[in-house]
Amino acid sequence: MLPSKIKPLEKFLSFAPPLMGEEEIAEVADTLRSGWLTTGPKTERFELALADYLGSGRGVAVNSCTAALHLGLHVLGVGPGQGVLTTPLTFASTAHTVLYQQARPYFADIDPETGNLSPREARRFLETQCAPGPDGCPRHKITGDIITTLLPVHYGGHPVELDGFWELAMDFGLNMLEDAAHAIGAAYYNGFPIGHRGLKPPEAAHLQGLTAFSFYATKNLATGEGGYLTAGDDALVERARRLSMYGISDSRRIWGRYAPQGTWVYDVAELGFKYNMMDIQAALGLHQLRKLPDFLARRAAHAAAYSRALESVRDMVILPAAKPEVIHAWHLYPLRLRPEALTVGRDEFIEILRAHNIGTSVLFIPLHYHSYYQKALDYKDGDFPEAENFFKNLINLPVAPAHSPERVAEAADVLASLLRQYKR
Ligand SMILES: Cc1ncc(COP(=O)(O)O)c(C=O)c1O
Repeated sequence: MLPSKIKPLEKFLSFAPPLMGEEEIAEVADTLRSGWLTTGPKTERFELALADYLGSGRGVAVNSCTAALHLGLHVLGVGPGQGVLTTPLTFASTAHTVLYQQARPYFADIDPETGNLSPREARRFLETQCAPGPDGCPRHKITGDIITTLLPVHYGGHPVELDGFWELAMDFGLNMLEDAAHAIGAAYYNGFPIGHRGLKPPEAAHLQGLTAFSFYATKNLATGEGGYLTAGDDALVERARRLSMYGISDSRRIWGRYAPQGTWVYDVAELGFKYNMMDIQAALGLHQLRKLPDFLARRAAHAAAYSRALESVRDMVILPAAKPEVIHAWHLYPLRLRPEALTVGRDEFIEILRAHNIGTSVLFIPLHYHSYYQKALDYKDGDFPEAENFFKNLINLPVAPAHSPERVAEAADVLASLLRQYKR
């Protein structure tokens, strides 16, 4: 590493610390004292508050977004012989859950402007690699899989082009499960939050639309571990709720069974999972949701601070942008280096930032670069050039609301100075 003349930050700026206050601590303590720790009244309140915030029907709170995605695919009937079209620039969870259902994930390339799955690339996949099957649904020309579902990811909290995806869904008769792990608080052109029922066009009424959120420790709204599944169709949510609790026909019976009017009788109606959210998690979620507008404003301000500071070094970097039709949730700030403009590579620059007390991450290593996915799916380096190029130059900067504006502004100045120092 070259010696740097730039003064490091005084203290390490970590990538994504949570922001928990006394209200969360008191609510968890209240739960611990209440005599009921797992799914119960607080989970119910949290679900109702989320439904209100999102403008959707009541969904089901679960113990991760992975669980929400899995349940979503399950209730859509995704199974063997089916394909799900998604992005390679995502976390393993997105594609793992497709494989849990013994279906196969297919990737199409991203829009390099946002990092999101491109509806144009998705259409190209459906038009060139698939042919209409017996029922008109696209059938993959080599594997014979019927592509039934679109699984776009709102990467970093920037909404995908939902209009384009619903158009595609209608043209090819596909359901849609949105991976909104990063996108609580994001909204689309009409101001509807991601997860709002109104985002699905009325002409798509015959198709299903579901949305899965994550409340993992680093997310915009954190419950430690946690997730939430919404669906336009209440029957799908109720099925998902049942499946989240072993397949027990009336899951309320489980948490109400020790109440004075409770009963020990229950019926396991189908093969379900253990995916339910605990009241301890919901206790955190209730307050995190109340604080979400403030958290989002802080994230947006941090993003704006980086963009302002980096304006003068734009010949060395590509800044993330928000398209005019969206409200960005700024879960991530994906900065990309222009390697031709710098004397150091991305990996070395990450180490330089670390040495200057700036914590970063790289989200994500494209799925087809992982050894498991190379074995499980027949993809190779070069198949998704935009996603690969995005990843190779990517550094995600800290935008957590736990950081003060002053510390982020200082980090942004150090970053800009370091870029100038390593200019080619
Ligand atoms: C895009 C994406 N999808 C799904 C998940 C899974 O979320 P969880 O950890 O809540 O299961 C993550 C987690 O980071 C993610 O980034």
